[in-house]
Amino acid sequence: MKVFITRRIPQEGMKILTEATGVCEVSQWDSDEPVPRSELLKGVQGAHGLLCLLSDKIDAEVLDAAGPNLKVISTMSVGFDHLALEEIKKRGIRVGYTPDVLTDATAELTVALLLATARRLPEGVEEVKKGGWSSWKPLWLCGYGLSGSTVGVIGLGRIGMAIAQRLLPFGVKRLLYTGRTAKAHGAEVNGEFVPLDELVSESDFIVVSCSLTPETQGLCDKAFFSKMKKTAVFINSSRGAVVNQEDLYEALSRGQIAAAGLDVTTPEPLPTSHPLLTLKNCVVLPHIGSATYSTRGVMSALTAQNLLGGLQGSDMPSELSF
Ligand code: NDP
Ligand code: DGY
Repeated sequence: MKVFITRRIPQEGMKILTEATGVCEVSQWDSDEPVPRSELLKGVQGAHGLLCLLSDKIDAEVLDAAGPNLKVISTMSVGFDHLALEEIKKRGIRVGYTPDVLTDATAELTVALLLATARRLPEGVEEVKKGGWSSWKPLWLCGYGLSGSTVGVIGLGRIGMAIAQRLLPFGVKRLLYTGRTAKAHGAEVNGEFVPLDELVSESDFIVVSCSLTPETQGLCDKAFFSKMKKTAVFINSSRGAVVNQEDLYEALSRGQIAAAGLDVTTPEPLPTSHPLLTLKNCVVLPHIGSATYSTRGVMSALTAQNLLGGLQGSDMPSELSF
């Protein structure tokens, strides 16, 4: 069966696929850069399996180009907002994804981003390099600490929960969370399930860790930021489109909120001329939540196993139900 892989992936996943002799014949966009759309449309033609990344938009056009052979799409990501699920379902195609295996790495990075943003680490590093460090000064480069604070988590799913577990030992006093439903596991972090407005107005730190859906798209907008405390720090490691970036820029530049840390943006990459990058109180990372060597290796292996399961019509270790 023919498989198209849209990028170079870690060798753990490639090894599984190349050893599956007799099951699949692999062709690949052999680059670290995204496959151009025209090459994607060409590459999928007649494919039985597609291994893709979150940067590949898999819509009706791609599915039509693939044709009726396509049985399985395996994405090397836990997020699946890049997949047109309705179109995929219509065609009876199975989907594999990578939950759990990247939870720890992403939670760790989110905590790192929160601390870096709240304690102004990039600004401090920059000052040292450019000679701005003249003396120890009582009011210089002060930020905000977690001890005694209220943290609000938007989306207490796998990653939201892992973030909460890592933040509590810093002395967080209250842990608020919001989502569609209260979670039984919320009790493990003394989480209080509250309406979004209450979370926004009472939190000293807001962490966005929900999935991107039509309901969460643009959730963090002008009204949202206007309800936040002036001293509050906003962190997003879910998807860029959950945030209205123009509204965030206004809130940050007018001092309506203290700071923001973003691991995800719209678009990605964020153009170097983007206004958010001119702000000292905005820390932007290049979507590196799951970027540890071991996590990416495990993600690629799981993606390959999902693909093989789908090709062979057997169990997939992590099949998306939709
Ligand atoms: P989960 O499915 O476990 O969690 C998603 C959470 O989103 C759930 O708690 C869900 O709550 C919540 N949610 C859904 N709709 C809403 C809503 N309308 N309002 C508030 N919360 C909502 O997924 P993961 O924790 O594994 O991953 C979450 C996301 O993180 C991924 O979808 C991906 O976009 C992103 N991600 C980013 C990474 C990075 O590198 N920065 C790495 C990995 C993931 P409920 O059940 O109540 O609906
Ligand atoms: C995902 O898996 O959805 C992340 O954004 C990248 O690991």
